[in-house]
Amino acid sequence: MVAVAILAAGKGTRMKSRLPKVLHELGGRSLLEHVLNCAATLQPQRQLVIVGYGRDEVRSALAQHSITFVEQTEQLGTGHAVQQIIPHLQDFEGDVLVLNGDVPLLRPQTLKTLLQTHQDHGNAATILTAQLAEPKGYGRVFCEEDDLFELPARGRFELPARGRVTQIIEDRDCTPEQRQNRRVNAGIYCFRWSELARVLPQLQTDNDQQEYYLTDVVKFMSPVMAVDVTDDQEILGINDRLQLATATEILQTRIKSSWMAAGVTLIDPHSITIEGTVHIEPDVIIEPQTHLRGQTVIATGSRIGPGSLVENSQIGENVTVRYSVITDSIVQAKSSIGPYAHLRGHVAVGQGCRVGNFVELKNSTLGDRTNVAHLSYLGDTTTGIQVNVGAGTITANYDGVKKHKTIIGDRTKTGSNSVLVAPITIGSEVNIAAGSTVTEDVPDQCLVIARARQVVKPGWQLSPAPELSTADLSKAPEPQQEV
Ligand code: UD1
Ligand code: CA
Repeated sequence: MVAVAILAAGKGTRMKSRLPKVLHELGGRSLLEHVLNCAATLQPQRQLVIVGYGRDEVRSALAQHSITFVEQTEQLGTGHAVQQIIPHLQDFEGDVLVLNGDVPLLRPQTLKTLLQTHQDHGNAATILTAQLAEPKGYGRVFCEEDDLFELPARGRFELPARGRVTQIIEDRDCTPEQRQNRRVNAGIYCFRWSELARVLPQLQTDNDQQEYYLTDVVKFMSPVMAVDVTDDQEILGINDRLQLATATEILQTRIKSSWMAAGVTLIDPHSITIEGTVHIEPDVIIEPQTHLRGQTVIATGSRIGPGSLVENSQIGENVTVRYSVITDSIVQAKSSIGPYAHLRGHVAVGQGCRVGNFVELKNSTLGDRTNVAHLSYLGDTTTGIQVNVGAGTITANYDGVKKHKTIIGDRTKTGSNSVLVAPITIGSEVNIAAGSTVTEDVPDQCLVIARARQVVKPGWQLSPAPELSTADLSKAPEPQQEV
């Protein structure tokens, strides 16, 4: 039996934020969700999340996960946090993985290795550790046979953790000598529950922060083993915005490398961001300054960018998107979007459509091979197939209170600068004359002209304006008299 307990009660003072630290976002997911997803791969029988600061926010952010929330009303330290789970695991026999909620880059395989090592050796506790070139800020892990001061100053170390862990000392509680130890505590632990439950009540607050430290339990347990992580980027703890930025960069590198390995071309990868929730098929080309977010899917043969943002949208095969923003929308195969188009609020663009320069589409559906090529706004509109929306066509869909629908039939052409005042239905094969303001429904196959007639008055001349001399132009304007 395996249970998981995630520590997420702290405020995260160093973030300087109102938002609980574990809810800060990293690549489209909260820090806590990263940890939860990693833990979920072990299929634990029980999942507990210890909440405190911003508990309601944390709970509602995780509403769709099946977890037990445990309250830590006062944040008296990581040991105190874990003490709170005792009543919830009264009947539990097995191992408990305790994970800091602010270690989001942990890989599932690492957690599996930790659990496996723990069980293979029959340890009371097994601790994930890393040997860092810059261990500042982390608790230092001391083993029985460690020859601490021989560790090289930089680089990856092959030395496995030797012997048993004797103690973990927080950075701030270390003597300058102890601080030389580069083996750090990742904040990821595996405990035999019966052992942990036995020693948790023995914790004291005799440290610099006067807190109950979880790390102190190792003093009362045996055997405790340290397992060094192979890739020490995984254990980065997020305490401040700088570490959050570092984690974002690491995660982006991971995500982009894996898409490139899967057959996606990224041009200038550094300028591109891709959230972990995005799916991209092979032979897609992503151009510079492009950002793919949320539940976005890009089908094969498409070219996205430069300069585009696609969020929660599905892009079909062989679509091009240039300098455009697409959110919550679907674009079908062989369509082209942009430059400078904005699709939002559930737009569905059919196959082979062209949505061009400075066009905004909102909650609208375009039939196949429809063009909206220049300077148009279509809101709450449904078009048939092969419609041509002329330059500057606008749907007036809002009367100040409600939004109304516009329906345009197959093969209809709207003239430049038409205004379609919704609710309105325009039939099929209709031609709307340029500059028309259409307020009434239009039947199929007709020409609509809804504009004032041109009036030409012959012999009309305006009285000529007085000519200005250059001297007049350079004169400063007379100061206005205050009344
Ligand atoms: C902790 C470890 C340190 C380790 C580091 C790894 C302790 C005493 N120290 O230090 O050895 O190197 O993580 O990143 O455990 N939390 C609660 N309740 C509390 C206090 C904290 O739930 O009362 C939660 C926080 O929300 C956070 C986690 O515990 O998710 C770790 O707390 P944090 O204050 O970040 O510990 P560190 O100082 O980083
Ligand atoms: Ca931390």
